[in-house]
Amino acid sequence: MTSLEKDLKHTYDKLSEEERSRLHGSTILMTGCAGFIGYYYMKFFQKYAEALDIQKVIALDNFMLGTPKWLEPFRKDPHFDLRKFDIITDEISGIAGAENADYIIHMASIASPTFYRKYPIETLDANIWGLRRLLDFYKEKPIRGFLFYSSSETYGNPDAAHVPTDESYHGDVAFTGPRSCYDESKRFGETMCMLFAQQYHLPIGVARPFNNYGPGMRLGDKRVPADFAQAVMDGKDIVILSDGTPTRTFCYIADAVAGYLKVMLHGTYDAFNIGIDQPEISIRELAEIYVAAGKEIFGYSGSVVLKTSADKNYLVNNPQRRCPNIEKARKLLDYAPDIEVQEGVRRFLTFLKEQDQGEYVW
Ligand SMILES: NC(=O)c1ccc[n+]([C@@H]2O[C@H](COP(=O)([O-])OP(=O)(O)OC[C@H]3O[C@@H](n4cnc5c(N)ncnc54)[C@H](O)[C@@H]3O)[C@@H](O)[C@H]2O)c1
Repeated sequence: MTSLEKDLKHTYDKLSEEERSRLHGSTILMTGCAGFIGYYYMKFFQKYAEALDIQKVIALDNFMLGTPKWLEPFRKDPHFDLRKFDIITDEISGIAGAENADYIIHMASIASPTFYRKYPIETLDANIWGLRRLLDFYKEKPIRGFLFYSSSETYGNPDAAHVPTDESYHGDVAFTGPRSCYDESKRFGETMCMLFAQQYHLPIGVARPFNNYGPGMRLGDKRVPADFAQAVMDGKDIVILSDGTPTRTFCYIADAVAGYLKVMLHGTYDAFNIGIDQPEISIRELAEIYVAAGKEIFGYSGSVVLKTSADKNYLVNNPQRRCPNIEKARKLLDYAPDIEVQEGVRRFLTFLKEQDQGEYVW
């Protein structure tokens, strides 16, 4: 079994029989399929389409950051209908079968701060108008679930009393800062979900992801776990563009996607933190974990170096601490992430080692 197959099985095993049965006979429409989390879903649905009796996955992306080579095999797979599609401007009614979709997963929106700051209006539009167009299209259709990807960024920079952060915290978010295009559009997106759920009784699940990493990350994506993996692969030192003290918890993709599916299959409107609650570590500690795992897997001999970013806005409104309270998802969804960061980084680097580099290139 490859490390990716092991990960996909981990995700599958986290779903209960009851949850799996809710996917039977379904058509899933998914936006943002060419991104990091999209990669994992595509591989997951491909592997388990038969077992879960999934009829069709309508997979949409505008490929604004490039068309990944790994998507090629999906063009010939009868379970998939892969299309270049912009959720802000293109007509959903023009997609054959879209009106019969049972589940909708709206992920389209660049997640890397470096890139969403390069495309701020496109990011805002995907989260607001893209979401609105989907909600309008499905508001009177008998869908089984609608999953909106919000973000832990909706909480902004919580004070110490609100870390770990639970879903009731209202956030401390700059509305005209360099990250506002992302943070505020996720917040407004959540408001829209709540209103449509109330008015049209839509089963909307809102997921607030906390720092995922693992297979599917584009190495040039400029998010810290991808940057560190890139440095290890290139045999270069790991460069941290801060003082290394901000802390995060890092949730491995195989755990996170099980959580997202549970949110989607929940069947009624609600919002959930999806991440892992321990250990909360500094960026410096994460870098050291990559150094150790890199040594073990690649014979890596680089070290950790602190530098300052040439981009003066790089750290503006960057939260100092981020750690979720996931008790709500534990209780209501039986969500139980258990891949700790040392193990997850080992799995991610092992995956990269196993990849045919020809496919895993954007
Ligand atoms: N990965 C994380 O840790 C994390 C954390 C918080 C929130 N999220 C959210 O989860 C979702 C998926 O994250 P990801 O890491 O896979 O992001 P990503 O940046 O890797 O991928 C996003 C994808 O959306 C596509 N896209 C953007 N605008 C589009 C449009 N108008 N029409 C069609 N496609 C469009 C992009 O081409 C890209 O392929 C995003 O909504 C993101 O904000 C992710």
